[in-house]
Amino acid sequence: MSKKKLVITGGAGFIGSAFISNFNSEYEIFVIDNLSFGNKKFISDVIDNQHFFKEDVRNSNAIKSIFKTVKPHIVLHLAAVHFIPYCNEHPYESADINISGTINVLNACEDVGVEKIIFASTAAVYPISNVAVSENHPTGPLDIYGLSKLSGEHLCNEFYLKTNTPTIICRFFNAFGPNETNPHLIPEIQLQINEGKRTIQLGNLEPKRDFIHTYDMAKALRLLIDIPIKGVEIYNLGRGIEYSVKEIVEAFERQLGEKITIEQNPDRMRKSDRMHLLADVSKLKKLGWNPTWSIDDGVKTLIDFSNVY
Ligand SMILES: NC(=O)c1ccc[n+]([C@@H]2O[C@H](COP(=O)([O-])OP(=O)(O)OC[C@H]3O[C@@H](n4cnc5c(N)ncnc54)[C@H](O)[C@@H]3O)[C@@H](O)[C@H]2O)c1
Repeated sequence: MSKKKLVITGGAGFIGSAFISNFNSEYEIFVIDNLSFGNKKFISDVIDNQHFFKEDVRNSNAIKSIFKTVKPHIVLHLAAVHFIPYCNEHPYESADINISGTINVLNACEDVGVEKIIFASTAAVYPISNVAVSENHPTGPLDIYGLSKLSGEHLCNEFYLKTNTPTIICRFFNAFGPNETNPHLIPEIQLQINEGKRTIQLGNLEPKRDFIHTYDMAKALRLLIDIPIKGVEIYNLGRGIEYSVKEIVEAFERQLGEKITIEQNPDRMRKSDRMHLLADVSKLKKLGWNPTWSIDDGVKTLIDFSNVY
């Protein structure tokens, strides 16, 4: 029996490449990516040129044409810009890619009649909260990125109402792992440590985040691709544990066996930042998913790993 076809937009990026490297046997995978942030070498072991389309999700005709050629059964829509400082500096571009791009992908899905779509949303759709947020928590994004992704969620709802296609909205929390494409906290520490520094420069030190390894994210995505669902379902995808910047640096210290001194650099500080962002992942765990990578396990693999954005 031939394999089902899975289109992954943004598949050459950080999370997409983790999915493709670890879970490529059950589906025939096609990637659409303009390589603005992603890198083809992350996936070149698995994805050949016949399965790779260097294209921009903002190009509606091209996206429709690719979908007509491939005729995917399932679509995982990851393509987006998401580094919050970048989005704040490029609000029109971010809105265009994250909203217009999503409209184009959904229209192409409607055209060919896919079986299911999974949309990568974000924890940034939630307002500030000092407790773990479940999927029922009211939304209230703080920035253009969160707003663009919340718009994507609304578009997914509208898409379902029009087409009856099972639709999953997956709200990712903070990913970490190999092949990071943006200067987030963990790759920033990784870069400086791997340059040999033991006094490192960081920005805001107080915020706590729910860091989840990309392998565990990929495993959850695999499950969400496989489970039969009706309607629109929202799932948080985080570890359910919060870590401060200091705790992340301590994980590097343990794995290196050396002391690291933090210097706060005002140039690296975000003017406003939420103090907490923690997922309630009980809904996802009810499906049988359990994360296995600890911060220390993940950090261990990042030391001496050279692929940093
Ligand atoms: N990394 C995280 O911590 C995190 C957290 C929450 C949500 N997300 C979401 O998960 C998804 C994947 O994120 P990631 O961390 O892998 O980021 P990433 O930047 O590594 O991956 C996104 C991919 O999309 C591609 N892309 C960007 N603009 C495009 C366009 N106009 N047309 C086609 N391709 C385009 C990039 O080249 C990249 O390969 C995104 O939708 C992001 O918003 C990520």
